[in-house]
Amino acid sequence: MTYADYLHVEELLALQEPRSEPHEHDETLFIIVHQAYELWFKLLLHELDKVATDFLADRLYPAISTFKRLRTIMKVAVEQVDVVETLTPMSFNSFRDRLDKASGFQSAQFRELEFALGYKRADMLKYQPAGAPAHARLTRRLNEPSLVDAFYVFLTAHGVPTPEHLRTRSPELPTTPDEAIEDGILHLYKTEPNLEILFELMTDFDEGFQEWRYRHIKLVERTIGSKRGTGGSLGVEFLKASLFSPVFPDLWAIRHRL
Ligand code: HEM
Repeated sequence: MTYADYLHVEELLALQEPRSEPHEHDETLFIIVHQAYELWFKLLLHELDKVATDFLADRLYPAISTFKRLRTIMKVAVEQVDVVETLTPMSFNSFRDRLDKASGFQSAQFRELEFALGYKRADMLKYQPAGAPAHARLTRRLNEPSLVDAFYVFLTAHGVPTPEHLRTRSPELPTTPDEAIEDGILHLYKTEPNLEILFELMTDFDEGFQEWRYRHIKLVERTIGSKRGTGGSLGVEFLKASLFSPVFPDLWAIRHRL
């Protein structure tokens, strides 16, 4: 076994196919950064699935380690926006029409991340071609409990029972804040220092995800201004709608009471 065999380096290096004719230098950056993001998304999903099983089995310390990792990956993902911002509006325009209708909006893994984190929106399924593996993966994510549901199970093991309406609701629905959960988390914050560490790491990750949305919006604004997106949305205005949606609303709702 060699390095190249193990990592499939030759196959990996053959996956960048610029479409501009004549060749536009910056298209290579655009392709590689998006591919790198898809790999980070894959790792985030892998770690999120792991931490969900930790929650279900009440494994606090493994959950803490994994949230440390998730937070760190988010920081790298946010920093990578700096690289894309070296692309000027005119340079991007030189190959933008080659993207046709392609847009990050169609990233199935990004939607998987949102669904895994509890930001469920069934109408997002229609943007994945029916019958494609991505459609099947996203459908599975839509119908299975989110990380927030697994967090409720963890909280129950620590004396915060999940209210009936949250336990029995359809898994296709997005997370909603809940006062009983908030009161329970507040109590744990004040009485269980180990759990405080976990909650703070979860908040770090949550903030990191929102930070990515913010950096992406600013990137879009400086690169295409008020133009519509290649995915067909209003562009910046569309993206702003989910800017401040937290993954764990209950962790944010109690901060003034701490
Ligand atoms: C020049 C750089 C970029 C521009 C101009 C741009 C533009 C846009 C626009 C306008 C949208 C709204 C949907 C639409 O297309 O109508 C969008 C969505 C999106 N883009 Fe980008 N983008 C850029 C770079 C990136 C990068 C590097 C990523 C990393 C994967 C990315 C991931 C996404 C995702 C996941 C969405 C969906 C967001 C959501 O629905 O909340 N974009 N982008």
